[in-house]
Amino acid sequence: MCADDTTGARRQFTDLVRRRRSVRAFLDTDVSRAQIETILDIARHAPSGGNMQPWQVHVLGRQTIDELRDAIRAAIAAPSHQEAGDYRYYPAKPFAPYGDRIRQAGHDLYEALGIDRRDVAARREQKMKNFDFFGAPAGLLVTIDARLERGSWIDIGLFLNALSLAIVSEGLGCCLQASFSSHGDVVRKVLDLDAQKLVVCGVAFGHADEDHPVNRQPLRRHDVAEFARFHP
Ligand SMILES: Cc1cc2nc3c(=O)[nH]c(=O)nc-3n(C[C@H](O)[C@H](O)[C@H](O)COP(=O)(O)O)c2cc1C
Repeated sequence: MCADDTTGARRQFTDLVRRRRSVRAFLDTDVSRAQIETILDIARHAPSGGNMQPWQVHVLGRQTIDELRDAIRAAIAAPSHQEAGDYRYYPAKPFAPYGDRIRQAGHDLYEALGIDRRDVAARREQKMKNFDFFGAPAGLLVTIDARLERGSWIDIGLFLNALSLAIVSEGLGCCLQASFSSHGDVVRKVLDLDAQKLVVCGVAFGHADEDHPVNRQPLRRHDVAEFARFHP
């Protein structure tokens, strides 16, 4: 690769990483199966320990999304409902500095949507939109074999990053959704999966509605000096 190519590749990569933002409102435009296959074909190049490639992907069209959304809504509404997630994403008691960051992300989301912090019903309805993949034309659910160790969850993270960037490189937008992991039992029932499959993450994706305020939130990241320490 000559110097010009390297510079071009760096610029493209930097642009791709910087352009990726969570997208939670989509246009009513379909994504073709060929495009989804291209995205998965790029994402599969992600590395994994021992080359285990522990990711399993379920591609959901609108028919299955509607069925899953209704099943999750019904499960939540059932009097006997108890949320027993496939794993815990957030610490039971958020602590500094993470608690503030989680609160800030929630604040940014509801402010963009014009939802008052005290409006519990509106916030709940926004959370429920997760289970409709925010109206996206397609959704993915990524599962992992429950017998695998924590190292394989790193691999799933790398896969999801490659997948997100592949989606952006196709001119689309996405939102990763750990929220589906809170309803693993329902997902397994609707998709007919065995109990061994844990739901790691959903991915809503499609053509971003660039004008929607929910897709125009501030990017908040800490400076390198705040998270990196250089040792001699
Ligand atoms: C693994 C993972 C799971 C996430 N789950 C959800 C989710 O369930 N619902 C949601 O609205 N956003 C979800 N997000 C989006 C984060 O809130 C978002 O990435 C963060 O606020 C930073 O914003 P940005 O993606 O626009 O840079 C998730 C992000 C990641 C990386």
